[in-house]
Amino acid sequence: MSNYSLPDLNKARFRSFGYRADIIRDALKMDETKSHLGDGLFYHVITYGCQANVRDGEVISGILEMMGYSHTELLEQADIIILNTCAIRDNAEKRVIGEIGFLQNYKRIKPSLILGLCGCMAQEDVVVKHIIDKFPSVQLVFGTHNLYELPQLIENIIVNNERSIKVYSQQGNIYEGLPSVRTSAFKASINIMDGCDKFCTYCIVPYTRGQQRSRLLDDVLAEARDLVARGYKEIMLLGQNVNAYGKDLDKENGDFARLLNEVAATGIARIRFMTSHPWDFTDEMIDAIANNDNIMPFVHLPLQSGSNEILKKMGRRYTNGEYIALFDKLKSRVRDIAISTDIIVGFPNETDADFEDTLRIVEYCKYDNAYSFIFSPRPGTPASKMEDAIDVEVKKERLQRLNARLAYYSKMNNLKWENKVVKVLVDGPSKNNPSVYAGYTPQSKLINFTLKEGNIGDIIDVRVTEGKKNSLNGEQE
Ligand code: SAH
Ligand code: SF4
Ligand code: F3S
Repeated sequence: MSNYSLPDLNKARFRSFGYRADIIRDALKMDETKSHLGDGLFYHVITYGCQANVRDGEVISGILEMMGYSHTELLEQADIIILNTCAIRDNAEKRVIGEIGFLQNYKRIKPSLILGLCGCMAQEDVVVKHIIDKFPSVQLVFGTHNLYELPQLIENIIVNNERSIKVYSQQGNIYEGLPSVRTSAFKASINIMDGCDKFCTYCIVPYTRGQQRSRLLDDVLAEARDLVARGYKEIMLLGQNVNAYGKDLDKENGDFARLLNEVAATGIARIRFMTSHPWDFTDEMIDAIANNDNIMPFVHLPLQSGSNEILKKMGRRYTNGEYIALFDKLKSRVRDIAISTDIIVGFPNETDADFEDTLRIVEYCKYDNAYSFIFSPRPGTPASKMEDAIDVEVKKERLQRLNARLAYYSKMNNLKWENKVVKVLVDGPSKNNPSVYAGYTPQSKLINFTLKEGNIGDIIDVRVTEGKKNSLNGEQE
């Protein structure tokens, strides 16, 4: 059973004082056999969840291509299908379990097909045990800490005909230099850090992703400069809490404000970042956003709840007053800034008054965009053990009321852009109508427009003709 290593959420909670992640630059072990295992074969990766998972999906694709595999869009053509999963809410997990059931049909038709599961669900002991017992056709399971082991794990399946189930629950290291296949030729994500130490009481991410660990500024800048040299137009700096960047490194490395300024100095046309925890947002960071024209005026600033009582139970470490003060500062210091948020309704024993507090903050902030969720108890988290007397119907009704307000403000904000000319990075033909193009404004608003001249990847002027609930319409100037 040497190819079995199971995760343990209890162990994943562990943080040692003063821990410093190792930077490993040669983790990927390839040899003659491994670099040809996939020759003539096809892979397909299905990614769920956040941008961190999307970036991991690009790395997984990169490793598979180094092994000789080629990408296919067709499931029936694939020789290996990997589900790169998210554990943030129960419904995300249910979907994946359903998908595995469905993919087993392909395995029946093509017995050599390798079905694999990775990502945050693979870090949960209950999930992996369930897979081992109930889904024998899933031969490959690996976690968020060992993407680099993929070649060995696949070799073991193909050569030894054994299951490869290897997940580690550890604080985590930093892996530099892994290959990746970027999904776009002009927009790229750079992971500036991994993991999270905030331990919001409802959230599973600190358990599935390990301790917060920042990459060295020099490594991030080298990646950014390489992207600029290759003609990229937009960089998204990624982390669970980008504002906490560098806190786990020596002071000389610098913080997120310095990182923003230095990435801006690479000359890349557009910089975005995600996600900002209000707790770590400094004035220097706001200055960096305000002073660099290539840092886009858009901040995702998760509120989670407007009630101080609930914020405390969530472990968010700010009050609604502190949140508003930060919100006001961003609005006053960064011209035309758009702000979006995340909100959880139905946290254990959230009262009507607590919920009204959330609505009050929403009325005040009039968010450009928002994601709202009903609280979902996650294994191993403190909130999953809290008593909760609130009926699910009450939670659903609150979510509906909240969503109606959020939609109203989103539309109001979009209406304000009518007749204005905005800079748009052309992404490509829109989903529903190939003669209409889609892209994003600096404020991260989706805009559909007619393209008169120019190409995908260009930044063009578009006049907004209509502000809708979730997007804008426009015409190229
Ligand atoms: N690091 C980011 C959040 C990443 S998870 C941050 O702190 O802002 C994305 C969102 O999922 C969170 O902002 C939260 O609103 C939601 N979420 C996380 N855990 C949840 C849970 N157990 N139930 C419902 N929503 C949850
Ligand atoms: Fe989860 Fe909180 Fe960390 Fe965000 S900051 S990933 S919500 S624990
Ligand atoms: Fe989901 Fe993991 Fe991201 S739980 S939101 S994929 S960090």
